Order: sequence, then C-alpha cells, then structure tokens
Amino acid sequence: MLGFLLRGGCSPLVCLWALLLPLVSLHRLNQHGRRGHAGMNRPKLLLLSFDGFRWDYVDRVPTPNFRSIMNEGVTVEQVENAYITKTFPNHYSLVTGLYAETHGIVANEMYDPVLNRSFSMETDSIYDSRWWEEAVPLWVTIQKAGGRSGAAMWPGSDVRIHGMYPTQFLQYNASISFETRVERIIEWFSAPNEEAVDFGVLYWEEPDESGHNLGPQSPLMDEVIAGIDEKLGFLINELKKAGLYEKVNLIVTSDHGMTQLFTDNIIELDEYVSRDLYTWVDKSPVVGILPKEGKLEEVYNKLVDANPNMVVYKKEEIPKHFHYQHNNRIMPIIIEAKEGWTVMQNRTGPFMLGNHGYDNTLRSMQPVFVARGPAFRQNYVKTSMRSVDLYPLMCHILSIRPMPNNGSLLNVKDLLYPELVPTTPSTPPRVNQYSYAPVVGSFISVVMVLGFLVFYIRQVTLKQLPSLKHRSREMSQPLLQEDLHL
Ligand SMILES: *[C@@H]1O[C@H](CO)[C@@H](O)[C@H](O)[C@H]1NC(C)=O
Ligand SMILES: *[C@@H]1O[C@H](CO)[C@@H](O)[C@H](O)[C@H]1NC(C)=O
Ligand SMILES: *[C@@H]1O[C@H](CO)[C@@H](O)[C@H](O)[C@H]1NC(C)=O
Ligand SMILES: *[C@@H]1O[C@H](CO)[C@@H](O)[C@H](O)[C@H]1NC(C)=O
Ligand SMILES: [Zn+2]
Repeated sequence: MLGFLLRGGCSPLVCLWALLLPLVSLHRLNQHGRRGHAGMNRPKLLLLSFDGFRWDYVDRVPTPNFRSIMNEGVTVEQVENAYITKTFPNHYSLVTGLYAETHGIVANEMYDPVLNRSFSMETDSIYDSRWWEEAVPLWVTIQKAGGRSGAAMWPGSDVRIHGMYPTQFLQYNASISFETRVERIIEWFSAPNEEAVDFGVLYWEEPDESGHNLGPQSPLMDEVIAGIDEKLGFLINELKKAGLYEKVNLIVTSDHGMTQLFTDNIIELDEYVSRDLYTWVDKSPVVGILPKEGKLEEVYNKLVDANPNMVVYKKEEIPKHFHYQHNNRIMPIIIEAKEGWTVMQNRTGPFMLGNHGYDNTLRSMQPVFVARGPAFRQNYVKTSMRSVDLYPLMCHILSIRPMPNNGSLLNVKDLLYPELVPTTPSTPPRVNQYSYAPVVGSFISVVMVLGFLVFYIRQVTLKQLPSLKHRSREMSQPLLQEDLHL
C-alpha cells in the first residue's frame, strides 16, 4: 500500500483514508483484546455469596464497602432468584444458569424415588455425585475449556461432579473463617500464570445464620450486617494488596433474602392429616410431602382447604412461573406457607425467627447484587434481572461457551462495559489492565495524520523535484514499523 502511495498514484483524500484504515482495524483489535482468549490475558472473575444477604440490607446501616463497589461498578435493584428460595437450589442456579427443576438440586432436603436415596445438606449424602450431575457447574465447564477454577466452600464445590473437582478447592468446614477462605482465594488468583485460577467462588454462611436465629427485624441484625460489610472490606483490601483489584471482576451477591416469622403463625399438619399417611421430605416454608402408596388423593383432600395460610399444590398444579415441576425429586404434593408462616407437624421442636424458601417473587426473598471490575460499567444501576441470567453473563466475561441454560445474556448485557470506548473528550480514559491500547492507538493516529500532512505539503510544494519519491520513503518508513510493532 505504501509503495502505491509513494508512487504518487492516489489523490490526497484517498491517501488519508488508506493511511487511517489500518489504524481503525488496529483499534478494533484492541477492543477485542480486552477479552483475550489466550493464557495470561484470560479475564478473571470472583463470585462471592454472603448467604441470606437480603437486597435491602445495604441500606439498613452504613455499608461503605458495598457503596464503593456500587460507585465503581453496577447494582441490580431487583434480582428474581430461583424457586424454592433455599440455599442449595439457588447456589446451584447461580453457577449453572438453570432453574432447580432442571439442575436437580430442588431443595436442601430431597428424596429421589429413582435412586431411592435421600439428600440432606446436614449430612454426607451431598457427596454422592448423582445428585449434582443433572447439570454442569461453571467450574467444570471452564476447566474442560482449558481454564482453572478455585472454590472456597461454595455449596457443591467439594463434590466430584462429572469426574471433576475445582482445580483448587477447600473441603467444606463451617469453622474455617472468612479471612482464611479469602487468603486461599487470593493465593489461587496470584499463582504464576499457568497456575493462576481464572474463576473463583467464595461462600460465607452469614448473615443467614443470624437472620434465622434473630429474625431480620431484630435490631441486633444491624451489627451483623455491618460485620458483613467489614468482611467485604477485608476482601477488597486483600485484592488490592495482591495487585488483583483492577484485574479481577468481583460479583457480590447472595442466594436469597430473609423474612420475619412469628410464633403465633404456625401451621400444625398433625391437626389435619395423620403422619402415617405420608413422609415429610423438605421443611418449611415449602414442604415436600410424599404420600404413602395409594394415599395421594386422601392426603391432598385433607390438606387442600385445611388452612388459609398455606397453599397446597399437586405437583402438576405448581404454577408454571416457578419452573418447579419437571423433576422426580419434586414431591407429589408441596405445601407453600404464606410469608411469615411456618409449617410444622406439631409445635415441639426448634422454631426459627427468620426464614426463607417462600415465593421467589416476594421482595423479602430476593438477594443483593453488586459487581465491579474491568468488564463492568461504573456507577450504573439496573432495575431488574433473574439470577439465572448471571451464568451467561459470567461465561461471556470469561470467554467460555455457556452450556444450555435458562438465562439470557441479552437481559444483562447492559451491565458490561460498552464494547466501544466512549469518545466524549471530557471523560478520562478508563484505567485498567487494557486501557493503554486506545491511548497508544490515538497517539499513533495523530502522528500518522501529522505525517501525512507533512507528506502532502511536501508533495504539493516539491512537486517538480525528482528526489521526492526517495525522501517520502525515508519519512514514511519509521511510521510503518511502529504500526507493525503495536
Ligand atoms: C429404599 O431403600 C430403603 C433403605 O434405605 C429400603 O428399605 C427400601 O426397600 C428401598 N426401596 C426400594 C423400592 O428399593
Ligand atoms: C474444621 O476446621 C477447624 C478449624 O480449623 C478444625 O479444628 C477442624 O478439625 C476442621 N474439621 C474438619 C472435619 O476438618
Ligand atoms: C410432637 O411430635 C413429637 C415428634 O416429632 C412427639 O414426640 C410429641 O409427642 C408431639 N407432641 C404432641 C403434643 O403431640
Ligand atoms: C431451561 O434450560 C434447559 C436447558 O436448555 C431446558 O431443557 C429447559 O426446558 C429450560 N426451562 C425452561 C423453563 O425454559
Ligand atoms: Zn438459611
């Protein structure tokens, strides 16, 4: 091209266009480079869940660390999570993008009639891979694509799923402090290039535990929430100390919210139906009832109009919008308590002051969602999303092809930093790992335009001199080299 230019074979305007063309394509290349596919440039993502952190807790007490993420990143005001709004189903939805009926972890306590097995989050039954293998969690997918992952206590992350554990993980142990979990995550992200993890998941049991014990309305919850904000501050600080804060995309969310219960609001099933007629599978507020052989109609008829504070569904009547029907592990009858109500067999036994699991469209059941990092927009508030949309978003950030899922990248793409850097001169260039590329591009554009002008003026003024072609070549050569080196 340059040879063609130097032979004087083009008009000034065409020459200018021809000179700028490679710069435009270079600029495009840099934009894509932000999300490089290979080795050390693979984008990083850390997903953190504070169990039971309701969406509005951030407004209840000063939460400066949440605020800083909101200011530097994105907030989603309303996240519709997966039904039932319990811990295991929702944590698996976050890393699979699937509703519970499809990923198969339909409750914290389950019975599978085909396996003839029971699952309880309280026992080692969770280590039976078969419960988890109706879906493929993101850490398995990223590892199959040549990436690495690290997991600190995320539900299911210490279970062998489709033949794999996360590249790095901790065996579940509730006694391991948040700080220790963070230290391990930081180690894994900071490892030498080929060993560093690309995707991390981090789980903390609070404020769920306190929410159950105290009830979310308790003034004592204020201190618990402030404590969670301090934990987030610890993580931010450790990321900064390790030089990871500007590189790692950080998503802070939760599985569900929490609502206040009242001791007067108890439904006692023993008043309506004999225990001999059914097996009690999952606990309040969405109770799984497995009627004894041939007793389905009898149990259903006894329960359906028994108490106005609960709704009783046969499996095939469960409302479609819950996406909670098509799985063997969903029991033939489910009872859903109204918000604030507890279903028990009788009044003896432990009673909690706070609970979750209710209808996922209730505001009280919904989690917090904030995120920041090179992939995310800044100081941006989005009205609503579904928690299943997070999975395709994370796959996009990590440049991983998503497995079939129930989310939609289109629904949440506006959370991402726009593909094209805004050209408004008043906004300073975004400072991150990749931001030098457009600056260098613009600098070279200016140099080349100036170079062209000099070249053009010379061409016009020295038109008659025989040495023109040679001189122009001398002048243009270094520019061409710089172009190639970028
Ligand atoms: C299911 O397992 C239990 C023991 O856990 C056993 O007593 C029962 O017979 C099994 N049922 C079937 C249908 O295999
Ligand atoms: C859990 O962690 C605690 C504290 O580090 C330790 O004392 C305990 O042995 C661990 N339990 C298991 C089962 O590893
Ligand atoms: C309530 O149920 C428990 C077993 O769960 C039983 O031991 C107790 O006797 C029952 N109480 C009443 C008042 O029926
Ligand atoms: C959710 O996604 C899975 C996998 O693509 C699909 O089989 C299932 O039908 C979807 N569920 C809904 C409600 O669309
Ligand atoms: Zn809980």
